[in-house]
Amino acid sequence: MDDEAGWIAVCDLDRLKLEAIVRIAGHDLLVIWNEGHVVACERACPHEQADLALGRVTAGRLHCPRHAASFDLRDGAITAGWPSPPLRLYPVRITGERIWIEMQERQPAR
Ligand code: FES
Repeated sequence: MDDEAGWIAVCDLDRLKLEAIVRIAGHDLLVIWNEGHVVACERACPHEQADLALGRVTAGRLHCPRHAASFDLRDGAITAGWPSPPLRLYPVRITGERIWIEMQERQPAR
């Protein structure tokens, strides 16, 4: 696997389109295929640490497998009313067929 200045290559686009949620080995992170876009986020739910790799993606949201809450994949915000910090998102870059993630955390835009 290639690394360059904080970016790690995680998987190919075809695999992500097929699987929808891919675990990134060695980092507790996920890449998600979300309505034609690639999103990278932490794997542990920020509410009570459920494994979000077991969740599901619908209509731009990642649904936690443990509770009824879900996260907006644009900014990580949890469903209104749930006491939780937002889901951490990470910058994504695509070169050819390969997906890269920058390990530095992105701050939500609001
Ligand atoms: S553990 Fe994910 S919403 Fe509660």
